[in-house]
Amino acid sequence: RAPGRLVVASNRQPYRHEYGEDGGIEVDAPTGGLTAGLDPVVSSSGGTWIAWGDGEADREVADDEGRVAVPPGEESYTLQRVWLPEAAVEGYYYGFSNRVLWPICHEFVDLIDHRPEDRDWYRHVNREFADAIVDHADEESVVWLQDYHLGLAPAMVSEAVPPETTVAQFWHIPWPRAGAFRAVPDGRELLEGLLGNDLLGFHVESYVATFLDCVEEFVPGAAVDRETAIVGHGDGETRVVATPMGVDAESYDERSRAVDRSQWERLKERYDLPTEATVAVGVDRLDYTKGIPERLAAIEELLAEYPRWRGEFTFVQKGTPSRTDIPAYRDLGEQVRSEVARINDRFGTDDWRPIVYTEEFFSQEELCALYRYADAMIVSPLLDGMNLVSQEYVAASVDGGALVLSERAGATEVLGEDVYTIDPAATDSFAATIDEALSAPEAERTARMDRLREHVFDHDLEWWMDRQFDEIARCRNDGADRD
Ligand code: G6P
Repeated sequence: RAPGRLVVASNRQPYRHEYGEDGGIEVDAPTGGLTAGLDPVVSSSGGTWIAWGDGEADREVADDEGRVAVPPGEESYTLQRVWLPEAAVEGYYYGFSNRVLWPICHEFVDLIDHRPEDRDWYRHVNREFADAIVDHADEESVVWLQDYHLGLAPAMVSEAVPPETTVAQFWHIPWPRAGAFRAVPDGRELLEGLLGNDLLGFHVESYVATFLDCVEEFVPGAAVDRETAIVGHGDGETRVVATPMGVDAESYDERSRAVDRSQWERLKERYDLPTEATVAVGVDRLDYTKGIPERLAAIEELLAEYPRWRGEFTFVQKGTPSRTDIPAYRDLGEQVRSEVARINDRFGTDDWRPIVYTEEFFSQEELCALYRYADAMIVSPLLDGMNLVSQEYVAASVDGGALVLSERAGATEVLGEDVYTIDPAATDSFAATIDEALSAPEAERTARMDRLREHVFDHDLEWWMDRQFDEIARCRNDGADRD
């Protein structure tokens, strides 16, 4: 379905090779939305995927050029690994990407930690990726870059490939307002890097609008057409579009239908959940953008102000440690663990813990059991590009449920009024909304969930991919017409 030979580039790779306990090599296929979603597409169309080789056994498996055929056992495309020395990882990944761009794009300007050498590493690694892309791209190719780690590479690529090659990118996180963007060191260079794309995708219209604002303010000479969202610059142009990413709804639905109650009973036993408890879940990377402390505060408020839930309600939070080399992430982990302990101390009894917090690994089956049998999910980011977990929960909620969702997640803009919307910072009304979601008549909960499910199925991953490819095809045709 791809409108050309695909050359995908992302920071994370779809397959990582590690040494197992017995010294043998094991493949780990990350289950995250982006890599898991793109893998079948690249598999079916063939092509190349360029990504950072961060697995311990990655080099042993790849050839001298860093290439390995994947998916393992059903080889259909080439994974081209980019090797990054430790200093590059520190400067480009932990540094500029995650201590500067991530907090700025999520408008956490207090957490910016800019070390000048990180910017150089970001340039350097973008150049490495660009060189690898250029090696694989010809006039038939569609280069498709992913996310904020590769903000400079598009301009580097478009200068070096034939004019027929299409260069596109999807930016998976929010685009900040101009006031926050101002904090990006050499922000203009980043914008000019992104304008190297023929097509630039965001999840929602508001990010398209703030991106165009920034171009107008910081790139003199760029011609922004608000009507068409096309930016003219030099002798090229960039079309900017909003296409909300979806999840593979069918496979969540299927996997969820395949789990049975006994799996849920086992989970309840493992975490000591009361047999009849009402359960809400949270599933997040441990990231300060996800609003986990705010969520815990709302649960504390719920227990304080709506005492009928005491002994009756349990909140299960699964946290996945992430980017732990960065102090803000480690601090968050500590804060979450200590808040959970404090709230459990305050309300817990001999046979009931209000909050179960775990960082244990969950298999896909266990995750689906959690989604299917929980009474609600609470997703409360302070800002989130999309939030795919909320959509996964909806797709897996084959017996109903309720989604309590932050008004500041891209997902709210696409899921609309059938979610129970909250402002994560307004603890009182957040708690009242959890109470409402849990106590609403079953008919109302079911009707809302049915409509959410319809939406998530109609706008699934395949729909997103098709829209992206249609836009890319349009760029190719426009380019051909101009030539
Ligand atoms: C966000 C980003 C992705 C990233 C993921 C996990 O969803 O948009 O690009 O892969 O977080 O973070 P990590 O730093 O572990 O790749």
